[in-house]
Amino acid sequence: MSDTAWLEDATIYTLDVKTFYDSDGDGWGDFQGLIEKLEYVDDLGVDCLWIRPFYPSPLRDNGYDVADYYAVDDRLGTLEDFREFTDRAHDRGIRVLTDLVFNHTSIDHEWFQTARRNPESKYRDYYLWAGDVETAYNTFNIFPEHEDGVWSYDEVADAHYFHQFFHHQPDLNVRNPEVREEFHDILRFWLRQGADGFRIDAAHPMLMPKGHDGGTLAEPIELFKQMKRVVSEEQSDAILLAEADDQPELLPYYFGDGEAFDLQFNFVMNAHLTYAIGVGDTWPLHRAHEIVPDVDGIGKWANFLRNHDEWNLLKLPEEAFHHAREAFGEDAGDSWIFERGHRLRLAEIYDNDLDRVAMAHSLLLSLPDVPVLLAGDEIGMGSDPSLREREAVRTPMQWDDSEYAGFSTSEPGDVHNPVIDEGEYSYERVNVADQLNDPGSLLSRVGELVDARSQCPEIVDGIYSVVDVDRDDVWLHRYDHGDNLLVCGHNFADEPREVACAFGPPEDVSTSIVGDGDYRVEGGDLTFELDGCDYLWIRADKWGKRAPEPGEVLALSR
Ligand code: GLC
Repeated sequence: MSDTAWLEDATIYTLDVKTFYDSDGDGWGDFQGLIEKLEYVDDLGVDCLWIRPFYPSPLRDNGYDVADYYAVDDRLGTLEDFREFTDRAHDRGIRVLTDLVFNHTSIDHEWFQTARRNPESKYRDYYLWAGDVETAYNTFNIFPEHEDGVWSYDEVADAHYFHQFFHHQPDLNVRNPEVREEFHDILRFWLRQGADGFRIDAAHPMLMPKGHDGGTLAEPIELFKQMKRVVSEEQSDAILLAEADDQPELLPYYFGDGEAFDLQFNFVMNAHLTYAIGVGDTWPLHRAHEIVPDVDGIGKWANFLRNHDEWNLLKLPEEAFHHAREAFGEDAGDSWIFERGHRLRLAEIYDNDLDRVAMAHSLLLSLPDVPVLLAGDEIGMGSDPSLREREAVRTPMQWDDSEYAGFSTSEPGDVHNPVIDEGEYSYERVNVADQLNDPGSLLSRVGELVDARSQCPEIVDGIYSVVDVDRDDVWLHRYDHGDNLLVCGHNFADEPREVACAFGPPEDVSTSIVGDGDYRVEGGDLTFELDGCDYLWIRADKWGKRAPEPGEVLALSR
């Protein structure tokens, strides 16, 4: 078994330290606060945390504008706090992935400041410059609402610098071997502080043509293969996760035949899955299954329902893209940004229908590949549209109904982002404390599903197939795993549905693992009896020998 095999059955939870829990009342979440809340994450059942950027930063892009790769923003704690956090997480068997932004730095980074002032310094060539932009390579900017293009003039340097994101995020010159050496040093450094792997931000833009000549690396994937070699040499179980929102057919490239990224976000599945459940029709999910490339043997997908950015819909076919733009979000377009997505949280996409949110989690957690949960979605948090662009979906975690949602004891105005204190998503209505001991709450249901997944080795090791049914609002899939069969049913409709599929084993050797729906077995058929938005996972011994006990954990066979 390889040292990175832990990833196979991992469930990842992503959070931002500065909005998770404030331990010292200064309005900023911090690592000590996160340590206090580790029990909560552990109880939820997740075993890997992806922590978004926490480095010193002017926060013009929520920390994805790094000013120093080797430190912790002092509002969030110290390096020692970070180490203590990874130790405490490891004590609980929880691994930690940190976010590394290598496509660009902040303009505040010392490298850029030196580069602009001193053309002779080695840092000049860390970035990409053009004296005359008329003759320089040109391309589109990733934040079209905010930036006219990819070149900005710097007065001190008297030259233009290249940036695919905001103008305050100059692209690094990945063709410069010294820049790549810097990446390697940074990776080694954070592994030594306790990280178990990294989400590599903007992996796709890192490989794009860049700079005056629009050049790329001779062998682009070598960039990531080298990184993978560095992390494996330092720590054999460390992994790399790619954020590469590229065209479906180009995605396998990022796995480098098993020598680059271990894991990659599945943006294609994300747009289709979340949309399918939102419109109550399974066709987008069937389409995703057709267009997501098979990467068996070279890497794994990371599936998710929502992340901390806009819900990017570009991967949907054109008609569905326009439909999704109109159909979701209550306002006259206020949630729509960057010409490609909604700044809405999951519960809002589903009009606060918590049964639908729970069903979406059931589907996510019962599909193959690695699930990634976004902090706050497990309690059904909403957004604050009055906040600047994607900040709307990045409000503090709602812990209880006390002032500032139990997130902070700070004075009003001091908090990094305000808590949501009005409307149907306010902390008085949506919070952890209320849901913790309520077995019917969304939080309890999501916890139950995470637990169910960990008790189903079929999902990790079994043979997955989609079951054909004669309805377009019910989704069935199954796993064959040795003597075991696991069949999962999901009703996308608001009304009850009955759907049958060929099964085999008699009823007395089947068990319901999780979900409220009913089922019956007759004449070799399994019939799901599902109310609106119900889900149900059924396990059986294929040969009718023995039904596993509820909660029985079967030995993992790798
Ligand atoms: C990634 C991050 C996003 C950030 C961008 C630029 O897409 O998820 O939040 O703005 O990279 O670093």
